Amino acid sequence: MENSEPVRIAVVGMGARATIYAREALTHPDRMRIVAVADTDPAHVRKAREMFNLPPERCFSSAEAFAQAEPFADAVINGTMDPLHVATTVPLLRRGYDVLLEKPFALNRPQADELLACARETGRTVMVCHVLRYAPFYRRLKELILSGALGRILNIRMAEQVSYFHASVSYVRGKYASPEICGSGMLLSKCCHDIDLLAWLMAESRPARVSSVGSVFQFTPQGAPDGAGERCLSDCPVERACPYSARRLYLEHPQRWAANIWHDSGMPAHAPLDEKERLLRNPDNAYGRCVYRQNLRIVDHQSMLVCFENGATATFDMNGGASASSRLIHITGTRGEAAGRFEDGVFTVSLISPESRGGRRVETVTLSPGEEGDAHGGGDQLVVADFLTLVRGGIPSVCCTTLEDSMVGHCLVFRAEESRAQGGAMLPYEG
Ligand SMILES: NC(=O)c1ccc[n+]([C@@H]2O[C@H](COP(=O)([O-])OP(=O)(O)OC[C@H]3O[C@@H](n4cnc5c(N)ncnc54)[C@H](O)[C@@H]3O)[C@@H](O)[C@H]2O)c1
Repeated sequence: MENSEPVRIAVVGMGARATIYAREALTHPDRMRIVAVADTDPAHVRKAREMFNLPPERCFSSAEAFAQAEPFADAVINGTMDPLHVATTVPLLRRGYDVLLEKPFALNRPQADELLACARETGRTVMVCHVLRYAPFYRRLKELILSGALGRILNIRMAEQVSYFHASVSYVRGKYASPEICGSGMLLSKCCHDIDLLAWLMAESRPARVSSVGSVFQFTPQGAPDGAGERCLSDCPVERACPYSARRLYLEHPQRWAANIWHDSGMPAHAPLDEKERLLRNPDNAYGRCVYRQNLRIVDHQSMLVCFENGATATFDMNGGASASSRLIHITGTRGEAAGRFEDGVFTVSLISPESRGGRRVETVTLSPGEEGDAHGGGDQLVVADFLTLVRGGIPSVCCTTLEDSMVGHCLVFRAEESRAQGGAMLPYEG
């Protein structure tokens, strides 16, 4: 491809995520141009048509309809929901497109194998939106490991705390609480980023065994406050004292994730408050229902242990319902350690140093202002830039999340869920 031309991108599934990626065409028109949209929701097609000034013949009513048209774009961004990822990407690869695909790229092992086989057969590239790899915090940790400064890595400890307001809006009341909509449990839908990071950082060895336990600890009818009703705004006498009150979370403090509710309900974010209240009062609306009476079928906390072929180990804990969202990491190597909290944009490197005071040399790595980025540390923008490099035939960054590379993390999750179903049995990894 002629390097000076912007890459022509078609967007399939113009929802919340794809819109973030597609906007890069507005900030960097020299690098990327949106030339088509495909979405089953006419309102989302209209939004893209207006944003990118698309002619009607470049607007499609589904991914399937777009894949039937003669190719006219260089590559595709696929932002459909999880259960559609493989079904919609396979025809695109067969049409000759490279695809930037949202995570999780597949819901189970057979789907993952199908996609990988298709990518190999067609010779096309699938890059997965594991955007956290691109966040400078994790990229610097990866570079530190690659530099050899920590020696050989013997253990990685990671944890993800999911705040009470994010957990309740997305994983208790929202679409990721429902395997019918998102197709999986929380380890895949939420934590596949973290497990991908774990496998990527531990890349000097492959996983050998994995086990996992987890359950619904908190969001059960037994966990409800005494006297709690079924719906926060209709019949709950203890609503004012409940941290999960839909009124408190979504009407009084809407800046914390409530935007997802209005987006998923097809309501403009600027809709009047009384309209939003009516929506939450609607007996069919899950966002107004008591968090303890959702009949939750996914976990609210889960732990995982991975043993690697070279004897190294890793653990991961996810706790939903924490006071704040955060991601913690502690890497131990034979020459030193690195530890930090993603949200702080700072990690500490502590190297074995017998001559130094205290027997170690400590250095603090602080990301510079502007490097810290948003909730994904700027990864949303950087993953698109790397995808464009790949499509142009350039050399992608160390963070690049090709399908083959992303398989390890996903396969770990698939095995971990099998282990959890068996009460935490230690299972051989099948990669
Ligand atoms: N990388 C991340 O950090 C991150 C964060 C959140 C969500 N996600 C993932 O991003 C994906 C999209 O999430 P979202 O919140 O943007 O969802 P969304 O519901 O806002 O967007 C999905 C879009 O796909 C469209 N669609 C449905 N069927 C279609 C079809 N057959 N053809 C074309 N379009 C179709 C829908 O109308 C909608 O516009 C999910 O897989 C989700 O798990 C990733």
